[in-house]
Amino acid sequence: MTTHHVIGVLALFVSASIYAQDSGGIPQNQVKEKNAFVSHLMKEMTLDEKIGQLNLVSVGPDYTKEAIMADVRAGKVGGMFNTVTKPDIRRIQDQVQYSRLKIPLFYAYDVVHGQRTVFPISLGLAASWDLNAVATSARISAEETAADGLNMTFSPMVDITRDPRWGRVSEGFGEDTYLTSRMGAEMVKAYQNGDPSAPGSIMANVKHYALYGAVEGGRDYNTVDMSLTRMFNDYMPSYQAALAAGAGGVMVALNSVNGIPATSNVWLLQDILRKQWHFNGLTVSDHGAIGGLVKHGVAQDDRQAAMMALKAGVDMDMADNMYGKYLKGLLKDGLVTQQEIDRSVRHVLDAKWDMGLFADAYRHLGPASSDPADTNAESRLHRQQAREVARTSLVLLKNDKDTLPLQKKGTIALIGPLADSQRDIMGSWSAAGVAKQAVTVLKGMQDAIGDKATLLYERGANVTDDKDIVDYLNTYEQQVVPDKRTPQQMIDDAVKIADKSDVVVAVVGEAQGMAHEASSRSDISIPESQRNLLKALKATGKPLVIVLMNGRPLTLNWEAENADAMLETWFSGTEGGNAIADVLFGDYNPSGKLPMTFPRSVGQIPLYNSVLNTGRPFNPKKPEKYTSRYFDITNGPLYPFGFGLSYTQFSVSDITLSSTTLNAKGQLTASVMVKNTGKRAGATIVQLYLQDVTASISRPVKELKNFEKVELAPGEEKRVSFPIDEKQLRFYNTQLKWASEPGKFNVFIGLDSQDVQQSSFLLE
Ligand code: BGC
Repeated sequence: MTTHHVIGVLALFVSASIYAQDSGGIPQNQVKEKNAFVSHLMKEMTLDEKIGQLNLVSVGPDYTKEAIMADVRAGKVGGMFNTVTKPDIRRIQDQVQYSRLKIPLFYAYDVVHGQRTVFPISLGLAASWDLNAVATSARISAEETAADGLNMTFSPMVDITRDPRWGRVSEGFGEDTYLTSRMGAEMVKAYQNGDPSAPGSIMANVKHYALYGAVEGGRDYNTVDMSLTRMFNDYMPSYQAALAAGAGGVMVALNSVNGIPATSNVWLLQDILRKQWHFNGLTVSDHGAIGGLVKHGVAQDDRQAAMMALKAGVDMDMADNMYGKYLKGLLKDGLVTQQEIDRSVRHVLDAKWDMGLFADAYRHLGPASSDPADTNAESRLHRQQAREVARTSLVLLKNDKDTLPLQKKGTIALIGPLADSQRDIMGSWSAAGVAKQAVTVLKGMQDAIGDKATLLYERGANVTDDKDIVDYLNTYEQQVVPDKRTPQQMIDDAVKIADKSDVVVAVVGEAQGMAHEASSRSDISIPESQRNLLKALKATGKPLVIVLMNGRPLTLNWEAENADAMLETWFSGTEGGNAIADVLFGDYNPSGKLPMTFPRSVGQIPLYNSVLNTGRPFNPKKPEKYTSRYFDITNGPLYPFGFGLSYTQFSVSDITLSSTTLNAKGQLTASVMVKNTGKRAGATIVQLYLQDVTASISRPVKELKNFEKVELAPGEEKRVSFPIDEKQLRFYNTQLKWASEPGKFNVFIGLDSQDVQQSSFLLE
């Protein structure tokens, strides 16, 4: 099963040794062996075979499985994505033995928040501020992905996202550089587990390099134009952190950066990625991005686009076979060099070595006898972990008069288009997850109350009554199925059950397809059909609990004012309904915190925490006219970054600093006492922010620099300490030098970005 799939002479290089697992990346002791193996293999390869390795394909209407198999036999394919079951993958991999050099393919997929078991969307995972929860989700994702015979995921997405109009904010970890960097790195480590070839491990391909999250106006695929200091201080560290954690691959972004598409951007792909960051792994284009260079207006035709992408350093061509069509001719005409082709081929072969495919072409696949009898078998899911992780991602936004938790008695009306939608709760990019296996809020609540209380259910509204939007969402898949009743009939039916109940739980928000790739919104409020429903429910006078399901910050002024309680649940995955019921009934005390600022109005965007002060800052305590503000709206966010309530209360003491001065080699500690002053056990996220008060460039008013999740019993208190050293104070100056500057620093510690204690120290 192993070495006979690699040409015999090369098998000599294959080691059966147990790999050292001391880093997130590739075991160092293999590097020499790998280099020798790959060099030897490349000497055997024809030009066509080399170019074939750069081709990353997927089955599509114009490219059938049979055609792919023929191309594999001809040595024209390097890897494949979107084929996700063992038998399907094996059928393709079996063709390798008929190729001249028998170089195995690797198999990739967008496993973004789970494979078979779907975890909360990444924005929800970020809301947990819980690195263990994130690691659990990624570890299980890797195990399930490997168990399906796959080798690589196109994840994590670590694009910093500060514009909630962009549908893809759902796929990342939000607006903050530090939080995203920690989450992304944690995911990479959990996917690869020290060795992407090991059983239950996969290679992480971090995306989208670079700055895809900053598309103008939040419109997908749009232009990115940004100062270099902002780029390096805010947007680049998360990619760097994922690479430092050992990510084996990088996906190149679709957008341009300061006029030059990432896909042809020599500066991004060579100078920064390779030379400055010393990345040695594989780069892949995004879907059809090489051909996109013509539309960007930097290549006159596909042939030139292929030339530019290869020269820039895009190793693999995803889905448009531009390399296959043009590289040979480009080489003949002297427009690309053999070295440039070889450089990329080496990266592909190195990655295959790292994924263990030369040692065993059937890595993760095993023999057909090991295939699961039922790919979607219940026994392949990790429901318990999914429920535990999902609970940590829920954010309590409002809870007047202890409306929540609900009691398991009396009559509860559960209403809303998302209350019983298995497809929606899975979220976008739900990989191989099966909607039929998802637990909806209806099911979760029913199971939680058993026969202790009466649960009445009505849909109440369609997600939207806008036919054009429904058609848009249903373009490729019937995602939204409108009810046959008129909107008024649906509302009337809902009000009937609300009238009979003690409390109303309304599950509203977005269909999952509204927070996805190519799903930018100009209006990020709850769609009108659902708002009308909420108004009718409010008019019943019953306590109103709003359960939000959405993949981006929404504008929720009406809801915030009129709901008695409001719980943000994102798209919480296979076990979402159980997790939400756990929180609604108080079997779990919520501790999630927002990873993105919630604006009051779309007109405020961009609105995020780590802003610069400006020369005329707005002061909400003393509002003045000639300050940086809007005159037609309450200034500031509806819910700030880092915000989230609990069923208990916490107090935070003044900050104690171990010293009020710090030198370059030293360290000081900022600490607070955090006390649970309420009646329930609970957890909260203690957040450390810093401000460089005066520097050579304006620095953010508050930058997140650390956080800790603390669990406290009622009455219990705990000292939470954050070490601070000079490194944490560094930033990229106008020369792009990463250095600190002496002077005063403010320290803030609190339970969200606005409600903080403050102190200061001097960097000498
Ligand atoms: C997306 C990527 C994704 C790729 C492969 C593209 O359209 O931008 O994030 O990994 O498709 O599915």
